[in-house]
Amino acid sequence: MPLSVFEHEDPHQYLMGFGNYHQTEAINNTLPVAQNSPQKPAYGLYTEKLSGTAFTVPRADNQQTWLYRILPSAAHSKFEPLFAEELKQKLASDSQLQYTPDQVRFDPFDIEDSVDWIGGSRLVAGSGDPKTKTGLAIYVISAGKDMAARQAYYSADGDLLIVPNQGVLDLQTELGRLRVRPNEIAVVPRGIRYRVTLPDGPIRAFALELYQGHFKLPDLGIIGSNGLANARDFQVPVAAYEEDYDSDWSVVARFNGELFKVHQTHSPFDVVAWHGLYYPFKYDLGRFNSIGSVSYDHIDPSIYTVLTAPSDSPGVAVADFVFFPPRWLVMEDTFRPPWYHRNAMAEFSGLIDPGLKTPKVEGLTLGGIQIHNVMSGHGSDSQLFEAASNEKLVPVKEGTKIKAFMFETSSVLGITQWALVDSGKLQRDYQKSKWQPLKVHFKKPA
Ligand SMILES: [Fe+2]
Repeated sequence: MPLSVFEHEDPHQYLMGFGNYHQTEAINNTLPVAQNSPQKPAYGLYTEKLSGTAFTVPRADNQQTWLYRILPSAAHSKFEPLFAEELKQKLASDSQLQYTPDQVRFDPFDIEDSVDWIGGSRLVAGSGDPKTKTGLAIYVISAGKDMAARQAYYSADGDLLIVPNQGVLDLQTELGRLRVRPNEIAVVPRGIRYRVTLPDGPIRAFALELYQGHFKLPDLGIIGSNGLANARDFQVPVAAYEEDYDSDWSVVARFNGELFKVHQTHSPFDVVAWHGLYYPFKYDLGRFNSIGSVSYDHIDPSIYTVLTAPSDSPGVAVADFVFFPPRWLVMEDTFRPPWYHRNAMAEFSGLIDPGLKTPKVEGLTLGGIQIHNVMSGHGSDSQLFEAASNEKLVPVKEGTKIKAFMFETSSVLGITQWALVDSGKLQRDYQKSKWQPLKVHFKKPA
């Protein structure tokens, strides 16, 4: 069985590999040899450097990219606050985070098909602060319209990890193009301009904006030199540029949680060649190599970590992206669903693959999410507990129809007023229906 669900993709459309140095040019001999900034770059281009980390970060974590472009990104008007009434209301609603220990579950968020990628971004949960580079924000993004022609967007606040659960995204980025479908994820690093179009109609995605650091592959420890997400399977765009320097472009910036706009006469997608370590990428989750128990016990879900953004504390993540892939369960004498638990990390989870028309797991439906905050208990409902406690433990393949993901964070997650109230999607009987019916099985020994 092929590992990739998208095996027919043109292999020349992408560079392969994550964490390694890439170089790509849309016109041969654009990249300078043996230096980064010649007095006169090839073909009359400008040199621009994009820093993803401080210059002095140790070499293993340093991320910088050199761009060779028709005009520098600085050639634009003054930044103006974007105060469109609708966006203003959204931002106001977004700013009211409520911190609750309640476990919460939401029905699928509506797809807003009258808006584009920028107008359809809704903050659901978050923690920390983009000003001081701590924490994260989590959005549901839905859209039915392409971003306007000659418009680009970027976030100065954080890298955006995009997890589509419906529809197809075409991302035109400064460094090249990415097509992203459900069962794939993409990351657009902080500062990189992009434009989103929808070749297949309305979309809905969840997205994590990482205020602090960058995503990397988790260390494998005693697993060895391969497994989980392998570096070679990540796809990075090749350089692609457009010649347009006599029209009216706008670039919208998310900066400290607010939106600003500039005008410029040239396309921001004018990078003819680039080389470096700071780039957007995508990953097909069908290529994930699962590791699991082949004897007994349900192993911690950290074995399904695709990407991690480490904090300064060893082993503690600002955010992990976890994917529960198709996998064989063979464990003996084991309660196979997750045990009941309370965790130091907060969990935000949902479903990603419309393998069934309306996939559903214990009240969680495609497009909905659940949040289990720090130290709030959760686990199977009573039906699943009874079934899993009594089923015959033969090998079964899990996760073929329903695929779930989780954003996990060491922060306490605040939830927006919009999600809790305005969206109308909060399930008000979550605790009551899920855990209160659990029966007492205790029998004191005679
Ligand atoms: Fe959990």
